[in-house]
Amino acid sequence: MSRLVIVSNRVADPGKAAAGGLAVAVKESLQQTGGLWFGWSGKIREETPDSADHGDVKLEAVGNVQLATIDLSQQDYDAYYLGYANGVLWPVFHYRLDLANFDVQFAAGYRRVNRLFAHKLLPLLRPDDVIWIHDYHLIPLAAELRAMGCGNRIGFFLHVPVPPPLIMAAIPEHEWLMRSLFAYDLVGFQSEADVTHFARYVESEAGAECLSDGSLRAFNRTLRVGAYPIGIDVDEFTKLANARDGVDMFLRMREEYSRRRLLLGVDRLDYSKGLPQRVHAFRELLATYPENRGSATLIQIASPSREDVGAYDDLRRQMDSLCGEINGDYGELDWMPVRYIHRNVARKRLPGLYRASRVALVTPLRDGMNLVAKEFIAAQDPADPGMLVLSRFAGAAEHLKEALLVNPYDTQGTAHAIQRALTMSLDERVNRHAALMSRIRQFDVHWWSSGFLAALEHAGLREDAGC
Ligand code: G6P
Repeated sequence: MSRLVIVSNRVADPGKAAAGGLAVAVKESLQQTGGLWFGWSGKIREETPDSADHGDVKLEAVGNVQLATIDLSQQDYDAYYLGYANGVLWPVFHYRLDLANFDVQFAAGYRRVNRLFAHKLLPLLRPDDVIWIHDYHLIPLAAELRAMGCGNRIGFFLHVPVPPPLIMAAIPEHEWLMRSLFAYDLVGFQSEADVTHFARYVESEAGAECLSDGSLRAFNRTLRVGAYPIGIDVDEFTKLANARDGVDMFLRMREEYSRRRLLLGVDRLDYSKGLPQRVHAFRELLATYPENRGSATLIQIASPSREDVGAYDDLRRQMDSLCGEINGDYGELDWMPVRYIHRNVARKRLPGLYRASRVALVTPLRDGMNLVAKEFIAAQDPADPGMLVLSRFAGAAEHLKEALLVNPYDTQGTAHAIQRALTMSLDERVNRHAALMSRIRQFDVHWWSSGFLAALEHAGLREDAGC
């Protein structure tokens, strides 16, 4: 059987808790099959006179998974990670051209680090390895590997949304970037909307032809594309909810909020997550439905993220001030409307918190999928489940139709939906939850990884890469 080689910017230790949907899902699928996981160590390399070769690959075995990591130089971290990945691709792919900083030095750093990844990975590869590359940091990696003679089967999965063609076209190097995707044998996206945007892009910008089997023909290459919505390990998460930490957390929260109704948001502190809009909607709820004053509390956990990027710092200040304002305006001696926690919360404590909450607010302005939505559903007591208020702009909305779908830009509409969730009958909650559970079971993490890898296995034999 072929060995699976996963490549992503960040590598999570499979023995430890991982933050972010990508790390959690990759960890879970790799633990099933075993294999190699290659990527950045998360560390900045000390510059020394003999470090011209960018340092060694650090190898470490954790169970059936071998981790291979490299450090980045400060210059590479600044240009590739902060500059291009998180200062150009992340904002543009989340429709935020206003936050993108197009700098040729960043683009050069992105190419350089992708080449470095290829250079360091190649010696570790065996001829029959199947390589699965993840996310926007590494779009040109297959093209770099092909240029170095790598003939292995290579798949790519994009965890973030694909914007419409004209937004994509704002990236000065968009053509090179999208063309480099054609060096893969299979490219997977989170949703049908993403597949459509990509197909429309290559049709209009590269004259691609859409073939009857759904693959795309351009740049003398035929590329298979498809939607593979990422999921969670439902049983694993339910087990976590019933484990000691999960139950302790649930009992503590239930006791503390016995007379109150808990609303919960759990996100990285990222402008794509719609956090200020969410606080505004909660404020609107208190204004329009005063019965919630003194009774409904929003716990918003916002784990620190990408703090070296300016836009994240601005958001932090905005959230501090908004939460302070609402607590100042509505708070009572014995009740604070918002509990805002700008820290990481241990993953093992989340299921209990999810289960103790009446409503989860998952209201990103744009999101590839959003696994918090699925984890919240999995953690509920089926006999008395909490309700999910979900942004229609999250990839998860494509198949979680029984959630209350909202437009997060519509403050009043979101406030009405929250009120509806808070007052929904037990019968309706139970029915909706059962339907949502069957959906997250159907599209779980194993379905995602085995479906993608099976399609990669069957992807047509690679023609000469035109990239
Ligand atoms: C998102 C991205 C991942 C990324 C994660 C955490 O989920 O799709 O690729 O790893 O955020 O962000 P960070 O910049 O800390 O790796």
